[in-house]
Amino acid sequence: MELASTDRPYRLGILLSGRGSNFAAIAESIRTGRLKGVEIAVVVSNVAEAGGLARARELGLPTAVFVSKGRKRAEHDADVIACLREHQVDLVCLAGYMRLLSQEFVAAFPHRILNIHPALLPAFPGLEAQQQAFDYGVKVAGCTVHFVDEHLDHGVIVLQRAIPVEETDDAHSLAERILDEEHLAYSEAIALVASGEYEIRGRRFVKRNR
Ligand code: GRF
Repeated sequence: MELASTDRPYRLGILLSGRGSNFAAIAESIRTGRLKGVEIAVVVSNVAEAGGLARARELGLPTAVFVSKGRKRAEHDADVIACLREHQVDLVCLAGYMRLLSQEFVAAFPHRILNIHPALLPAFPGLEAQQQAFDYGVKVAGCTVHFVDEHLDHGVIVLQRAIPVEETDDAHSLAERILDEEHLAYSEAIALVASGEYEIRGRRFVKRNR
């Protein structure tokens, strides 16, 4: 699947609802050149007060707010889709976007929407994944970057990063250490997808040999 464009930067649309530390890590990877040939086209939030949105403004990035509360999902998503198209987004990155996408949204960007989840999927989908993993007593935890499909935390896995759960951990310390891994994983996954050097075989994301 060839997604990368050679004559212009590869454009990301970031969707977030909260503090936006994953977004900030992506922006930092671009700034430092770890993520090359990529730019953030727009940062979109469904929550006007989202910390990530304020950070995006500080960085001088284009932002858009479409408040979702009280709106029908399809109508809200149609506005977001139009915004992403207007900004010529190649890849949509969900970064703490606390909203399920409609089927129309997923269909509008086939295999071009990524999400990051703070657990080693398929274990512990849904909310408070780190707490779920801690309570279950797993010895290895981590995060997953995956394509978004119509099911929750379910699409093809691009990559995962794992860490040991220490005897001294509580759910909070575990979540913090997973977050450090998330910040590395998301940029790495974006670089892989932006390169276009991969194939999807069934559920498997397979890098092409260069
Ligand atoms: C992260 O833990 C991410 O895995 C999950 O939501 C959280 C967002 O954190 N999907 P942040 O807003 O990026 O700091």
